[in-house]
Amino acid sequence: MDYYNEELGLKVPEHVAIIMDGNGRWAKAHHVPRNMGHSAGSKVVEQICEDAYNIGIKYLTVYAFSTENWKRSAEEVGALMLLLRNYLKDCIKRANSNNMRVIVIGDKSGLSEDIVETINRLEDVTRDNTGLTFIIALNYGGRDEMVRAVKQICEGVQNGTIKASAIDEQMISDSLDTRGIPDPDLLIRTSGEQRLSNFLPWQLAYTEFYFPEVLWPDFNKEELIKAVEKYNARERRFGGRKEE
Ligand code: FPP
Repeated sequence: MDYYNEELGLKVPEHVAIIMDGNGRWAKAHHVPRNMGHSAGSKVVEQICEDAYNIGIKYLTVYAFSTENWKRSAEEVGALMLLLRNYLKDCIKRANSNNMRVIVIGDKSGLSEDIVETINRLEDVTRDNTGLTFIIALNYGGRDEMVRAVKQICEGVQNGTIKASAIDEQMISDSLDTRGIPDPDLLIRTSGEQRLSNFLPWQLAYTEFYFPEVLWPDFNKEELIKAVEKYNARERRFGGRKEE
């Protein structure tokens, strides 16, 4: 449910999802290696978690690494993994001091063992935190997530614990990595690109989309508030009719 922020005079979406695009273009514009674009981007993630919670957002999901990102050069994949490894470790130290709960979605079986261990520890030590729920999509692909969910449900049907006739939207939602997390209210993709790129296709069915031109490393609190303002100008009907 939206929260009304009196100071801003805005209703604030409960769950914001972000495709952090434009790190490469930012690096190019600053005449620095691509990897510096990603590291600048990761600093912005840290700040936005704080800003998001301070304005009243309860859930923030970011697309950190997709199942398709493995196609990038070995050098770039290596640099992104190193960045994420360090970020997750650092997050273990920081998350408790700002009461943040961290959840990682995506196919963990495709990640290196030490990263999985760090993720498990991070999820474990932050489980009971009551501040921002920060969801990191890592080795995540929406279609891959659905395939894993379908397999899980089929196993249930096969072993007799699930009746095929009992399969409904709720059961599918509960079989996805995002089980228990409300669907995003607002999706932001930076850098002017207007694609979903396999990000949360099931969960974004009724979400409002916003595509600012700003490159992710330049994203900040003002940009976040601008996105919330755009969200306020939208009228969400969830397939129903406008109330007279
Ligand atoms: C897209 O920019 C961005 C990514 C593929 C990676 C996003 C990762 C980060 C922001 C850093 C790590 C994340 C966390 C959670 C610490 P691009 O490289 O496609 O940019 P371009 O389209 O301009 O080339």
